[in-house]
Amino acid sequence: LGAPCIDVGKLPKETGCFTYDNGFTATASCRSAITYIDGDAGVLLYRGYPIEQLAQNSSFLEVAYLLMNGELPNAAEFDSFEHEVTHHTMMHEAFRTFLYGFRHDAHPMAMLVGMLGSMASFYHNDLDLEDPVQRRLAAIRLIAKVPTIAAACHRYSIGWPIRYPKNNLEYTTRFLHMMKEVPSEPLELSPVAAKAMDLLFILHADHEQNASTSTVRMVGSTGANPYACLAAGVAALWGPAHGGANEAVLKMLAEIGRPENVKSAVDKAKDKESGFRLMGFGHRVYKNYDPRAALVRKMTHDVLGSLGINDPLLDVAMKLEEAALKDDYFVSRKLYPNVDFYSGIIYKALGIPVEMFTVMFAIARTAGWVAHWLEQQDDPENKIGRPRQIYTGAPTRDYVGIDRR
Ligand code: ACO
Repeated sequence: LGAPCIDVGKLPKETGCFTYDNGFTATASCRSAITYIDGDAGVLLYRGYPIEQLAQNSSFLEVAYLLMNGELPNAAEFDSFEHEVTHHTMMHEAFRTFLYGFRHDAHPMAMLVGMLGSMASFYHNDLDLEDPVQRRLAAIRLIAKVPTIAAACHRYSIGWPIRYPKNNLEYTTRFLHMMKEVPSEPLELSPVAAKAMDLLFILHADHEQNASTSTVRMVGSTGANPYACLAAGVAALWGPAHGGANEAVLKMLAEIGRPENVKSAVDKAKDKESGFRLMGFGHRVYKNYDPRAALVRKMTHDVLGSLGINDPLLDVAMKLEEAALKDDYFVSRKLYPNVDFYSGIIYKALGIPVEMFTVMFAIARTAGWVAHWLEQQDDPENKIGRPRQIYTGAPTRDYVGIDRR
């Protein structure tokens, strides 16, 4: 699997050769056995398993195990993994003090970056990165605690008391239970809604060397502790060109407002001067329909249908997709909806606030980030990431004293 490649690092040093690859469009930064993408064919495999089969049959936690360990667990392995994750869902009480220091109206992604960085202060001193058992424990802690932290960030931002994880619930439902706004109400999640949450988490769990995962690996290459690596990953995810797109899509659809306005939005997106892009459209690797988008689109109809929701934004989204896929600008550039074009409509239907959309992505992607971090730490070829540059600055010149400038 994969296109032919040259290992530039193995070229003789005396060639003095390095490549300029703005945005790393054609540079492999590592070897990885976790996720495979064929962007032209619209294929995505986790550890060799087609995403469609995992979406149909698996659960998020099982996928997290698969990404970390390379194989699907048998029943005993899964029980033990689930038990371990459940055992680590609580936050240290001192996290509260830290959380309460944020502005009450801070964006939850801002809080999540800070909270994950702060985990290093709780779990760094006794972490021996040479020890695979401790590395695995750090990975489990992250998978277990990120939902607790994410829910706490949300509750703090709306002024509700933090809720403890209810460990008799399964992973995604436990997160929703912690996040939900009314503390006394039992969580009622329809089977379709529960399946949708799990599906979105599975689809967002990994995507090889995307910007945030590459960031995790870049920081990991220096030997930094895994909590700092993931805090950096969350920061990279936040941008609207990456994980922030799901929030941006919903805002865009709301601004377009009605199917009649779709044409002018498409025209605006084609006009480079406008600075406007169709959010949730296009992908660096997929030059075909993103296989995740196809699954999310179908699930959007299932969720809205089963909950009896008639969301006008879905009509806008479908019209937008139809108009773009008929338009030569999008067709010639092979721009298709990506995973986040429809995901926000599902999250909205499930009552998740828009500013939490990218946080949801971060919870799911934690599984991929820790899998990549573990793989990197085990890799005897791991080298510090240190790209070169094409220098465009001033030639050598002499310092001039301030009185003569
Ligand atoms: N709307 C309009 N035009 C677009 C769009 C878009 N969404 N995406 C790309 N283009 C155009 C570019 O202007 C460019 O045109 P040109 O060749 O005439 O200059 C061409 O398509 C190629 O685009 P690039 O920006 O060079 O492609 P790149 O691979 O660098 O970017 C990206 C990919 C960032 C995803 C881009 O398509 C984009 O900005 N999309 C919208 C944001 C988005 O949905 N991000 C989520 C990505 S998926 C994820 O992270 C989960």
